[in-house]
Amino acid sequence: MCGIVGYIGHRRADPILVEGLLRLEYRGYDSAGLAVAERGKLKVTKTAGRVHELRDLVGDGSPATAGVAHTRWATHGKPTDVNAHPHLDSGKHVAVVHNGIVENAEQLRAELTDGGVDLVSETDSEALAHLISQAIDNGAESLEAAVRSVLHRVEGTYGLLVVDVRHPDQLVVARNGSPIVLGVGDGEMYVASDLAALVRHTQRVVHLDDGELATVRADDYRTSTLQARRTDKTATVVDVADDDYQLGGYPDFMQKEMHEQPEAMRSALRGRLDERFSTAHLGGLGLDPRQLRSIQRVKFLGCGSAYYAGQVGANLVEEFARIPADAEPASEFRYRNPVVDPNTLYVAISQSGETIDTLATVQELKRKGGQVIGAVNVVGSAIARECGSGIFLHAGPEVSVASTKAVTNMTVSFAMLALLLGRVRDLSVAHGKRIVEGLASLPDHLTSILDAQQDVADAARKYTDAQRMFFIGRVRGWPIAREGAQKLKEISYVHAEAYQASELKHGPLALIDPTMPSVVLVPDDELLSKNIGTMEQIKARGGPVIAVTNAEIPDGLADTVIRVPHSEPELDPILFTIPLQLFGYHLAAALGRDIDKPRNLAKSVTVE
Ligand code: F6R
Repeated sequence: MCGIVGYIGHRRADPILVEGLLRLEYRGYDSAGLAVAERGKLKVTKTAGRVHELRDLVGDGSPATAGVAHTRWATHGKPTDVNAHPHLDSGKHVAVVHNGIVENAEQLRAELTDGGVDLVSETDSEALAHLISQAIDNGAESLEAAVRSVLHRVEGTYGLLVVDVRHPDQLVVARNGSPIVLGVGDGEMYVASDLAALVRHTQRVVHLDDGELATVRADDYRTSTLQARRTDKTATVVDVADDDYQLGGYPDFMQKEMHEQPEAMRSALRGRLDERFSTAHLGGLGLDPRQLRSIQRVKFLGCGSAYYAGQVGANLVEEFARIPADAEPASEFRYRNPVVDPNTLYVAISQSGETIDTLATVQELKRKGGQVIGAVNVVGSAIARECGSGIFLHAGPEVSVASTKAVTNMTVSFAMLALLLGRVRDLSVAHGKRIVEGLASLPDHLTSILDAQQDVADAARKYTDAQRMFFIGRVRGWPIAREGAQKLKEISYVHAEAYQASELKHGPLALIDPTMPSVVLVPDDELLSKNIGTMEQIKARGGPVIAVTNAEIPDGLADTVIRVPHSEPELDPILFTIPLQLFGYHLAAALGRDIDKPRNLAKSVTVE
């Protein structure tokens, strides 16, 4: 949720740190700060504000060539200058930046206060700076040894980066539950919590694992475990370019990422559709046909939009493979005492691969002998590595807080999974062929929806006065209604509630009046007449109707019609998602919202 950047090398650290923070701002954006080691002293600049404010404060900066930086999304303590990272020890020798949560912070803070230390912030992270400094004062043989000894006392999660003016030739980093990546340059090294901050400088990276530390020098790094066993990690080359994190002429990342969807979907489909046998190949699952046939149930687990994508997946698995399937928020699953069934395939869904609830779910499933695969976008992320097998989403980096192309690729990946599970059971060749062809034509349909964006923008602008909206869907349309409501509320702050069409008359119909527009999903499928009935019920009570449809609907029934191209009916949910993204986007834009950085949210939720 927060972002970490570090640099040590031969260039001035300040501009590299600030530029790295700008790339990470999407992960958290209520305060920012940096510390550089300049001639035996720490020079610290921090502010409760956005990174560009920090950049102005840093000004010409310092000649220092090593430093640490942070962008924060408040968990412990309000977003204030004092609570912004880096945090220092009382002697101002050590600066730490920290992602995650120190769960025993109160106890550690109390110990420090009892020992006469004056804590200046309300954060859990500050305690780490004091404790590391004390460990050095008490004779730790190195900065790494000091950090290691403190981490043995820490309960909770961390991505931690430390600089100490008494050891100016090195930075020390550690990871437990919060990502840390090292970037290997030429006589210079970078540290970051996310590739976004590194790939402008280098594609050679080292992913730290949980429980791992590293001492990083300008021309060298050494990795080891918390138990001081060397791990000697080597660098890998990542296929992510700096352009992926640039706006490239778009007004914001959400617009850019919505436009990238046809190409992103082609990447997800590439090499996976088998026209000859009317099936899909998902080699990353590591399951042969016999193993696929032995799966008796599929359960999709994810949070937020990933969970809604899982609902689409569950419907598709039931339709194609005729085995029971459902979806559940990972955040709920991890705290229940779920029955973990060895014949169920559990699918952990995550764009970032970092969401703490989804990660904890995977760990709990593995502990109980569950068979869990990932549906993850970020290669090398915690969930991808914890699962070990699965389906990479191939959507490319996603920067906008509101997820678009990754969610679309989740649903198309689940269509392929469902097809594969169906074709090793009793899904016919003809049905499989229709789905393979339908999937292959989806990217072009996405393009035509995006080309007609202006129509959706015009439709959305008619509803800028609405304080609340319903999103109504039935069966295939229900998870899409939920995703549409989610998109609208998170970026426009308009209250949006999704409801099953069938449930309206059991209560919520009472809310319908001329001030409550309803976005109704009306696919041209076997439930068309039912959905037309739903629109009639809303209309009869004076509620404005926005129909999202690929069907012929009676004139005058909808106040606004948003058209969707025809596809295979089973695949309609994938296509219907796109106009709802556009609808939320244009309504939010018309209201002047900060689309990429909605209030109170961060891109990936790595703390509870
Ligand atoms: C909504 C959104 C969130 C995420 C959720 C899970 O637009 O982006 O609801 O879908 O926080 O995130 P990941 O997929 O990274 O696990």
